[in-house]
Amino acid sequence: MSAQFTRTPHPAPVPADRRAAILADPGFGRHFTDHMVTIRWTADGGWQDPALVPYGPLTLDPATMVLHYGQEIFEGLKAYRQPDGSIASFRPTANAARFRASAARMAMAELPDDLFLASLTELVTADREWVPPAGGEESLYLRPYMLATEVGLGVRPSAEYLYLLIASPAGPYFADGVKPMDVWLSTEYTRAALGGTGTAKAGGNYAASLLPQAQGAEHGCAQVAYLDAEERRWVDEMGSNNLFFVYGSGDDAEVVTPSLSGSILAGITRDSLLVLAKELGCQVTERRISAEEWLTGCADGSITEVFGCGTAAVITPIGRIKHVDGEVTVADGSRGRSPCGCGSCSPTSSGASPPTRTPGCGRSSRPEGRLPETPGTPRSGPPLT
Ligand code: PLP
Ligand code: COI
Repeated sequence: MSAQFTRTPHPAPVPADRRAAILADPGFGRHFTDHMVTIRWTADGGWQDPALVPYGPLTLDPATMVLHYGQEIFEGLKAYRQPDGSIASFRPTANAARFRASAARMAMAELPDDLFLASLTELVTADREWVPPAGGEESLYLRPYMLATEVGLGVRPSAEYLYLLIASPAGPYFADGVKPMDVWLSTEYTRAALGGTGTAKAGGNYAASLLPQAQGAEHGCAQVAYLDAEERRWVDEMGSNNLFFVYGSGDDAEVVTPSLSGSILAGITRDSLLVLAKELGCQVTERRISAEEWLTGCADGSITEVFGCGTAAVITPIGRIKHVDGEVTVADGSRGRSPCGCGSCSPTSSGASPPTRTPGCGRSSRPEGRLPETPGTPRSGPPLT
């Protein structure tokens, strides 16, 4: 199928002064751009009708399958305005591949990567004025997603899907911005089990996280850290980002992250940080880490920094871990202030250990702050516009 999008411009786009006010304080996921992309899939016709249309409500039959059995997947990535005014997205091919993998796990149609990438270009080009200025913390958050649109109550894979792409100017994901957050270590609930859907970015995973998330919030925590479902012993990840632990400091620092166990989401930020940390000479280890090791390591000072990382969450340090039996502070609880001032740098740039930078923040003094798409392409990623 050719990626020739039909274009229906919004008849009444958001006025420029209102858009400027939104971009000055976008929050996260509160405002949406003027347009969206839709592409349909049917068992008979495959992918068809790529369209750029005004952002607006969907009309769904009450018996639409996604409303009953939750066959839905999504992605999240960001587009950044560059100092020269162009716009680049961060590792979009990795999101395209993960979207296909999620579709496969959820028995959904797989969107070809070129269509996925073309949809990003289509929307970002149309709504380029919504990409916040270069030099700040803000970006345009892109949310590709897909739902089962066949009408019927039979429990089986849908014979029709709708792919959509919407965009939202984004500031900090956490209410407190990039400040050390408190995390609730849940021993009551798990996020995913081996053989389940934890490796897919499926909406249902997030629905299941809302109760533990509310429990964490009651304890003043911004995120929940989950343990493996079988032994309730090994640290998996958090509700919307992956976990990293730093042991020691300076030249001896070791950066540890839970290995891809089969129940955690393979974060693209996680992957980028592993590459960057190695490039910067850190000792990097992917292995199992138990809750006991985490808590003991913080208590005895061998763990010097802990942080969560993800597209929305950027790199957010963890100041305290709370659990049913008490709490423990990571170092002095204040690690992670970013010396480059971008607010998105890793805690390991606090000077305690070799610096790594948030991939994609675009303000790193190091070229490694942005990974090349594929070997040989510019490190800043392909311009979208
Ligand atoms: N883990 C979960 C459960 C997530 O929702 C996310 C966010 O996408 C991540 C990890 C981090 O993934 P990425 O770095 O690709 O955004
Ligand atoms: C992301 O970081 O893009 C996510 O999908 C996490 C969250 C907003 C659900």
